[in-house]
Amino acid sequence: MTRRAGDALPYGTEQRGNESMATVKVLNRDNVAFEARKGGTVLAGARVAKEEWRWYCGGQALCGTCCMLVVEGELEKPGEIEQYFIDGWGYHPAYRLGCQARLKGDISVVACADEGFEKEAVLKAYETACERNKS
Ligand code: FES
Repeated sequence: MTRRAGDALPYGTEQRGNESMATVKVLNRDNVAFEARKGGTVLAGARVAKEEWRWYCGGQALCGTCCMLVVEGELEKPGEIEQYFIDGWGYHPAYRLGCQARLKGDISVVACADEGFEKEAVLKAYETACERNKS
C-alpha cells in the first residue's frame, strides 16, 4: 500500500476510544509516557494525548522536527515518503519521523527535539538510554 503524506496528518481524527493502544515512552524526557493508537503515528498519538511533540510541516515528512531515535519496540516499516527522508537526513539506524512512524506496539524513544536537534547530544542521549535499558 502506498501512503500519501497527508495520510499521516496528526490531527487526532484517526484515534478512537476502544482501539488497541500502545505506550510511547520518551526516555530523554524523564520517561514521560503516553498512550497512542496502534497503527497510528507517534505524532498523532502525542497530539491526542496532549503531549508535547515538535512538528512544523504538518506531518508531511518535510521538516524533520518530529524526529526520534527508537531505543526499544517495534514500528511499522518506513513508508516510501519516510524512507526518502531517512535516506537523505537520517543519521542513525534508529532514526524515524514521529509524523510517519506507525505503532505496532509499545516503544521507547529519544525525542530529538529535547536535545535541541544537536546530533551529538541526540546520539549521547540514545546511548545513555540504551545503557539504562540493559541494566
Ligand atoms: S512533522 Fe515535519 S517531518 Fe514530521
